[in-house]
Amino acid sequence: MTPEQIVRTFLTHYHRLDHRDAPESSLIPPPGDPVLFTTSGMHPLTPYLLGRPHPGGRRLANVQRCLRTTDLDEVGDRTHLTVFDMLGSWSLGDYDIATSLRWGHQLLTEGFGIDPNRLHATVFGGDDQVGPDETAWRTWTELGVPVEANGADNWWSNGPTGPCGPDSEIFVWTGDGPPTGTPGTDDRWMEVWNHVQMRHHRHDDGRLTPLPLLSIDTGMGLERLEMVLTGGRSVFEGAGLSPWVEAVQDRWTLGEEELRIVADHLRSAAVVLGDGVRPGNTGRGYVLRRLVRRALTVLWRDDPERSLTELPDDPYADAVRRFRQAAAVGPLRDLLADEERRFRGLLRRGRPLVDRVRARGPLTERDYHWLHDTHGLPRDLVDGLLDEAS
Ligand code: ALA
Repeated sequence: MTPEQIVRTFLTHYHRLDHRDAPESSLIPPPGDPVLFTTSGMHPLTPYLLGRPHPGGRRLANVQRCLRTTDLDEVGDRTHLTVFDMLGSWSLGDYDIATSLRWGHQLLTEGFGIDPNRLHATVFGGDDQVGPDETAWRTWTELGVPVEANGADNWWSNGPTGPCGPDSEIFVWTGDGPPTGTPGTDDRWMEVWNHVQMRHHRHDDGRLTPLPLLSIDTGMGLERLEMVLTGGRSVFEGAGLSPWVEAVQDRWTLGEEELRIVADHLRSAAVVLGDGVRPGNTGRGYVLRRLVRRALTVLWRDDPERSLTELPDDPYADAVRRFRQAAAVGPLRDLLADEERRFRGLLRRGRPLVDRVRARGPLTERDYHWLHDTHGLPRDLVDGLLDEAS
């Protein structure tokens, strides 16, 4: 199945169940929002999860591009990406978790044809504030899906405050032989879909109060589902990543993990630029800058002459189209070329300075301040140069 067919199958399933399409947001949340980027399909729906009526009704579904940097260090493995598409469904005070799980199970097994024996679920096992999720446990047991109870891993929130609640995660077996163990004991169980009961509101002081509506928020990673449905070994074999993997591989020789990091970070940088973010030293601009610099650092490890300008336009054009953006590829590539030049210049100036400082002994906080304030060298760049020299 192609990603387009997967999206269509997902949305058709929920349209048949009377869900309407929720509009997709860009990666940039509205002004005043405490979160830098849209990290989940629920994010643009926060006011409605808190009780405001949604113009589309109480049953919604969509596909939403998301950026997560919390898992940045895991990129390079088989399943983690920074930018990805999330397939989402919502009940705003309408149906309950049992219904959501049953409809989800039906879609996975009948709609997508996944062998039910390759599924495993996890549920919230309770803590000192909220009891165990017995409804989800019972539902999975009735559906014949093995289930495991956890603590904090099965509690979902989008940040320290706001709507949150217990979740039930669905895993698919990605190993070669028959399934063994549980998601907690064998990482060949890959999480694909999360069903959250949005029942609580976390306040600044940590208190939980009940939300006016008991809502359901679900999110499934498109690239992971594609991997399951095509029998791929990693998300990097999927339609959205392979143009990047191929373009990078055609030009440069890299190890598998390095190739994945470069492909992921460059694709994400393109999508973040496509949503109007520009490189900078704070906030969103800094996240973008870090993605580009991390990719360049990997590329330059073996050959500092490598340049992003050697890549063709195709992967950029593919990312912009795939993530439903209107950006033109040329200006976006010019911005990346500028950013590369800037980083190269900083390294050229920074290397002798850092060498001089470290010759006197380990760097002090004053050294870091001096390198930053007088020479414009950020701490992580200095640390990178120190690693390089050691
Ligand atoms: N908001 C939930 C998640 O992102 C569905 O996992």
